[in-house]
Amino acid sequence: EADLESRLPLKGKKILITAGPTYEAIDPVRFIGNHSSGKMGFDIAQSAANLGASVLLVTGPTHFTIESNLVKVIRVVSAQEMYEACHLYFDDVDVVIAAAAVADYRPKNVASHKIKKNTAEYKIELEKTIDILASLGEIKKNQLLIGFALETENEIENAKLKIQKKNLDLIVLNSLQDKGAGFGKLTNKITFIDKNFVVEPMELKSKEAVADDILNKVIAHFYA
Ligand code: CTP
Ligand code: CA
Repeated sequence: EADLESRLPLKGKKILITAGPTYEAIDPVRFIGNHSSGKMGFDIAQSAANLGASVLLVTGPTHFTIESNLVKVIRVVSAQEMYEACHLYFDDVDVVIAAAAVADYRPKNVASHKIKKNTAEYKIELEKTIDILASLGEIKKNQLLIGFALETENEIENAKLKIQKKNLDLIVLNSLQDKGAGFGKLTNKITFIDKNFVVEPMELKSKEAVADDILNKVIAHFYA
């Protein structure tokens, strides 16, 4: 019994994970997106399931799949759809890990027909998408809320601001400084910063190992 529990320390816990990019439509055939592969979020989902957690994985467009009875994959396209899926499940979960690279802006108007190249210039007006993680931070009760931060300058300071702005318990700061880390790569160099602003830099490691480090933080929260 105790042995089972130590091998499946997250059994009975429900974890909502966001992953991948979002695509924001310009017209029926074009979109604004980004280079997120979804790998980090899928690795987190796999680690969480390996530890016994029930996982809801809300993901933007990606080629990744996951085969586990403990993981339900919810595929979405836009930031708005990701927002709606997250809010559908939020009340019911114990932990949220927001690894998605959500588009910050979307076209204000989506053309209903394919745009023709009739003019020398074409301007697309953009409006902000909704901040999914901040919206969850506003309504959170007992949920442990973990976000990511991608920064290229004043990394620690900006990440601390995000903790406050989004009411997070922990942020995973992603450093692009290291050439082996980030988008399209197999490795990540992260720094944990908690809500008390305790800063913990980690070594460059595989995204699978980073996923395990993040889940260890979740385990520590429940066994503190
Ligand atoms: N995030 C989100 N919804 C958005 C934008 C971001 O849920 N519309 C989440 C991301 O999944 C991540 C965290 O917020 O966990 C931080 O994302 P990041 O892009 O680093 O920060 P932003 O708040 O978007 O600010 P900026 O891009 O201007 O630095
Ligand atoms: Ca952003």
